[in-house]
Amino acid sequence: MRIVDIIEKKKKGLPNTQEEIQYLIKSLIEGTVPDYQVSAWLMAVYFKGLSKEETVWLTDEMVKSGDTIDFGCLADSIVDKHSTGGVGDKVTITLIPLLAAAGVPIAKLSGRGLGHTGGTIDKLESIPGFNTGLTVEELIEQVKKINVAIGAQTKSLTPADGKLYALRDVTATVDSMPLIAASIVSKKIASGAKNIILDVKYGSGAFMKTPEDAISLSKLMVNVGKKLNRSITAVITSMEEPLGRAVGNALEIIESIEFLKGKITAGDVADLTYSFAAIALMQLGLYNDESSAIEFLKGLINNGKAIEKLRELIVAQGGEPDIIENYDKFDLPEFKVECKAKKSGFVQKIDAYKIAYACKLLGAGRDKKTDPIDYSVGIYLNKKSGEPVNNGDILYTIYSNDEEKTKLAQRYCEEAFSISKDKTVNNNMIYKIINAEED
Ligand code: URA
Repeated sequence: MRIVDIIEKKKKGLPNTQEEIQYLIKSLIEGTVPDYQVSAWLMAVYFKGLSKEETVWLTDEMVKSGDTIDFGCLADSIVDKHSTGGVGDKVTITLIPLLAAAGVPIAKLSGRGLGHTGGTIDKLESIPGFNTGLTVEELIEQVKKINVAIGAQTKSLTPADGKLYALRDVTATVDSMPLIAASIVSKKIASGAKNIILDVKYGSGAFMKTPEDAISLSKLMVNVGKKLNRSITAVITSMEEPLGRAVGNALEIIESIEFLKGKITAGDVADLTYSFAAIALMQLGLYNDESSAIEFLKGLINNGKAIEKLRELIVAQGGEPDIIENYDKFDLPEFKVECKAKKSGFVQKIDAYKIAYACKLLGAGRDKKTDPIDYSVGIYLNKKSGEPVNNGDILYTIYSNDEEKTKLAQRYCEEAFSISKDKTVNNNMIYKIINAEED
């Protein structure tokens, strides 16, 4: 079998066979196929797509490329949540300590930043000392001990995704439905959870730009999961505007801590965190209705159990727990530029993609897979959509380590904000929920 023939077929829009997909992934793992051939195949998939069958085969091969976690009898009660990627999306970091504090075991494999979107692993690595490179044994032991563990997939779990993910990030092949579906579902299957919640985002800051595309991606993932014996709930949510006020690795951890301390009680991050946590509690049969589940969850924030669970997680993974009280430990940047509104009115819109782009320019993301990132930089949105603003009010704050980059980022942020006289109505963050469906 020759890799070039596999690429040739896909380039012409012909299906690859199961054997061809197996061969490609095996060669990727053994290091016998160069990055440029894999990248060419990814680009062919981007343009010609994969059938549902090919997507199932690819997902299955990616699962088999590494270890899978067997939680034994604990597996039925374990929850896993994954987002298709967004801007300022810190909901994993707010959700997992909250659910673990509720007594729900969580085993989570997360990714790094991809394309313009941020990654939970990069965000967690902004915590000094935090180790995301857990072995399977360490992950299992930690979930058994403190109910929660979070790791990167790079070591022994879905290594094929680790490699494909890094190549997609730098070859503009991220926003392909079958590649996203295989990447996410393979990680979820390998991490052993039986209860899987996917946050499928649409909008300017998401890979799927419309709710219709998010619905198609959700159906693909739910069906691939079903073929591989996993029950998946997909929740379609808006990513027109960054989630919360902080965008950037360390800044997002700080905002998550503020939520878990009970200092942020309303807004999109609170809404989504409570909704996902309530869905998990209902999936497990612990609550029958959303409002009583949310009341219980709010109690865990108010009595300090959620923030204490985050502390336990940080300590268990070697991180510096003092960051919870002392944000100076994050070593935030030299330049902090407060940018002001040039007119009065209401914020109509904040384009998530433009804010993400500005953040990447500051150094919060990668251009090449080997690029280091600057955890400390980012953008804080002092105003969000629907909020009133007066000429001269601070609209957003740029945290940067470089004056030139700050100026460039400011240009994109200026373009991202729309202000007008009309008062906006914020729509519900959740568009639709999709559960396992028939073929
Ligand atoms: N998140 C993933 O884990 N993979 C993708 O391809 C996109 C988002």
